[in-house]
Amino acid sequence: MGVSAPISSDVGAAVSALRAGALVALPTETVYGLAADASSAEAVARVFAAKGRPTNHPVIVHLPSVRSLDDWADDVPSWARSLAEALWPGPLTLVVPKASTVLDAVTGGQETVGLRVPAHPVTLQVLDQFGGGLAAPSANRYGRVSPTTAEHVVAEMGDALNTERGDFVLDGGACMVGVESTIVGAWDETPRLLRPGAVTAEQLTELTGLPVSADPSNVRVPGSTESHYSPASQVLAVEAHALDGVLASLAPSTAVGVIAPAGSDITSSVVRLASPTDDDDYARQLYTALRRGDSLSLDVVVAVLPQEAGVGRAVRDRLLRAANSVTA
Ligand code: TXA
Ligand code: MG
Repeated sequence: MGVSAPISSDVGAAVSALRAGALVALPTETVYGLAADASSAEAVARVFAAKGRPTNHPVIVHLPSVRSLDDWADDVPSWARSLAEALWPGPLTLVVPKASTVLDAVTGGQETVGLRVPAHPVTLQVLDQFGGGLAAPSANRYGRVSPTTAEHVVAEMGDALNTERGDFVLDGGACMVGVESTIVGAWDETPRLLRPGAVTAEQLTELTGLPVSADPSNVRVPGSTESHYSPASQVLAVEAHALDGVLASLAPSTAVGVIAPAGSDITSSVVRLASPTDDDDYARQLYTALRRGDSLSLDVVVAVLPQEAGVGRAVRDRLLRAANSVTA
């Protein structure tokens, strides 16, 4: 085990490391991913070991451009191809029937594979030079909060990366979106929303002309298991109107952090972890705020739920999964 993984912004070093079977944590527009050569079962196995993730869970393969789609997928529905053409690079993952060459280590033995082209200039350079696909789940321990800066990756996974084997963190700054990609099941004529993200159901319908089903039946999406995205502090998710009441009900000895929209008037003595100005800003700040709550050893983080519209739906989804209790 390395002591702690170095941070670098050397794209060429990332490409060489990935070719040699090392792990490189990469910036994307959503969150940082822990990447390995998707055509090497051994490298992909090291990603699962570093995360402590069950091996039957599939990982997303990141591609350099939409032109690589047919190297990884077979029988892509035409509506899904249109989405890829319209929205890649971007925060959309398509779960499509896999090409016969895709490794079981990547798909968790399923007949489908998750694919996306991330919209981050640094990682697009890595992908272009690497040429192949990069398997990359979010660069956090299984079940924990996804990292949105290189420093968060080191805090989360530094001691699981092996610097002697060439593992490192490629720094691309803070992620612009802040929550994981929208995942759409695309194996038949019905688009299925498997995980909400910055690409919204309304956008999907507008682009495909098809209604989007919200039924993720029979697929393994660990990010949709009930407890996920969890910090160490207790998370109390509250609707905006319930904020004052919940704060008043907490014992005075409790160390409390609050995530509430800018302009919310909070009188009790709490740490203001984030004051998002809108839902995009909330998505960008959410995971940093939860991490800050942990680093301050807060007992409780009270987070106001955004409305279920736009990227607010994704923020709500992550908060409800992180939450120990919900006050409507
Ligand atoms: O924004 C993102 O999607 C980030 C960045 C790094 O790209 N990645 C990410 O990966 O969130 P991960 O592994 O933490 O979550 C990916 C989700 C998992 O819940 C996984 O089960 C699902 O995608 N997934 C991948 N392939 C799948 C498949 N063939 N069928 C169903 N779900 C799949
Ligand atoms: Mg994840």
